[in-house]
Amino acid sequence: MSKIGIIGAMELEVESHKAQMTVTNTTTRANMEFYEGVLGSANVVVVRCGIGKVNAAIGAQILCDCFGVTHIVNTGIAGSLCAEQNIGDMVVSSDVWHHDFDCMAFGYPMCRIPGMPQSFAADENMIALARQAAEQTGSAVRIGRIASGDQFVADQKLKDQIIERTQALCTEMEGAAIAQTAYRNGIPFVILRCISDKADNSAEMDYPSFEAMAAQRCAQVAIALANALN
Ligand code: ADE
Repeated sequence: MSKIGIIGAMELEVESHKAQMTVTNTTTRANMEFYEGVLGSANVVVVRCGIGKVNAAIGAQILCDCFGVTHIVNTGIAGSLCAEQNIGDMVVSSDVWHHDFDCMAFGYPMCRIPGMPQSFAADENMIALARQAAEQTGSAVRIGRIASGDQFVADQKLKDQIIERTQALCTEMEGAAIAQTAYRNGIPFVILRCISDKADNSAEMDYPSFEAMAAQRCAQVAIALANALN
């Protein structure tokens, strides 16, 4: 039987999951609260890990070690790196890169962690199910690369640099750490993001007005995905 770990960075990104599920147990580990219960027809564990890649990796590893999850889903918001993409559109990860990892001094390409693949590939079945679930919201849905880094991107130059390095569709701050943790533990994953801003000089202005809508849209998809995975 499936047990789906659902990770969001911010309270806004997990509050709708929590509101829609029946919580049977709450546990605190590493100062993070893990909510076990049933979402739709699926057994789930929901955690708000906090912002950034270190928090995300800690949360994901605890899901593997202490809760025995069979799948990992990361939902949340993201900045767009693609001109055709609008606020409210959704991205399902084909694969995930760390856009800020730099061991070039040792001959590695930018974004490459020694001993790790360049790219962390999401699970094909989860991609297909996430796409179907996302399309039910009526949003435009794209499948493609997601680039993660410990930076809120709100600058055109930085945005252009990340696009050149990764050719990703969107950027956020946790996905690659969750993907890397899933990879190390042999657990299938997918990252599902809704665009809240354009990751350029308008990002700081866009973000507060659209983050709630984007987070809500992700929650809607998460429940459909959890049901489909069960
Ligand atoms: N999450 C939402 N928007 C983002 C941005 N512009 N940069 C990084 N993470 C984000």
